[in-house]
Amino acid sequence: MFSSLATPKADPILSLSAFFKEDPRPHKIDLGIGVYRNSEGVTPIMSAVRKAMLSQAETQPTKAYIGLAGNETFNQAMTDLLLSGTASYDRASAIQTPGASGALRMLADLIASIKPNTTVWISRPSYVNHQPVMEAAGLTVREYPFFDAQTKRVDETAMLAQIAELGPDDVLLLHGCCHNPTGGDISLEAWREIANLALRNGFLPFVDIAYQGFGDGLMEDAAGLRLLADSVPQLLISTSCSKNFGLYRERTGAAIIIADSKEATTKARGRALELARGTYSMPPDHGADIVANILGNEALKAEWLDELASMNQRINRLREQLTLTFREQSDSQRFDYFSEHRGMFSVTGLDNDQIAALRNDHGVYVVGGGRVNVAGMKESDIPAVVNAFLAVNA
Ligand SMILES: Cc1ncc(COP(=O)(O)O)c(C=O)c1O
Repeated sequence: MFSSLATPKADPILSLSAFFKEDPRPHKIDLGIGVYRNSEGVTPIMSAVRKAMLSQAETQPTKAYIGLAGNETFNQAMTDLLLSGTASYDRASAIQTPGASGALRMLADLIASIKPNTTVWISRPSYVNHQPVMEAAGLTVREYPFFDAQTKRVDETAMLAQIAELGPDDVLLLHGCCHNPTGGDISLEAWREIANLALRNGFLPFVDIAYQGFGDGLMEDAAGLRLLADSVPQLLISTSCSKNFGLYRERTGAAIIIADSKEATTKARGRALELARGTYSMPPDHGADIVANILGNEALKAEWLDELASMNQRINRLREQLTLTFREQSDSQRFDYFSEHRGMFSVTGLDNDQIAALRNDHGVYVVGGGRVNVAGMKESDIPAVVNAFLAVNA
């Protein structure tokens, strides 16, 4: 049965990580894999998370099954974090999923089960898993223009011109904040225009928000999504606690459905739960229980907010320092985009030869397409990164 299978392609990001581990050079720098690291180069367990874990170990009464929608306290907390005070709050329903990845797939399956001929529009470029997940659900994927490789900024005019062509058979997938891979976020004016176009032309917006709190702050990062939630009748959301709670391996996320009436939301939720039943059945509880306990406890929540804010400040400080060092060393402002981008990543426009030279000659690891994980750097790495970039004529 299996011998006729083609040899699987290696995952480019994971195999880069393996090469990095094997590299004996002490000065090597990993700007590849998408995890936050602190100034010691560690992806930390947040202190509020550790406290909630300890309390869970001591007080959780049972590990019996919960249900298809997972932890409802967590679901409510996720809805509150993104949507409290918006016009669609009362029509929103969250379902716990295995990470935002699980939410993306659940919502893609939901769309396909209702309207199999839907086209999902993703940004060019987009998160590497958007296309495979949507296609695995049987949906057609097309791209809208997004990033201008010359300016390293979002080309909102081209993006909105394409979005204006979408209609009722289309889903528009947007990054809530901290665009992966480019780091380019869209302005509130563009979000407003997208809301107007959705109202006029009837496409369904779908916001994937995996980095809430990593850009300009928890509420600031949800501003575009909240604007949509105030304006459009229907909206899908996938959200993640991998980054902002540092719970990567616990697979903690949620799918949020907003339909045009409470009754329609209930029906859509029911269909999504049937789909979950046919795939993984119930989501893992460990991370969701931790998040629910943090967000439901004033002291732990304050501690989490503080730590998240300092992670966010660290990323933005690294961005400023990179820009300043590039200005000094290159005598130009062509790297200023680093401080304009938000979140962990920036697309640098490096080509394959430059990426190979960075790795071979300087021990600096960057993924294909030139994405750099700014949040993977130590402050002390900056001079070496800047020198290496300039040495390969970035
Ligand atoms: C834009 C985007 N969406 C979704 C995900 C998946 O997140 P999770 O680890 O919660 O499945 C990621 C992770 O890198 C991402 O960057």
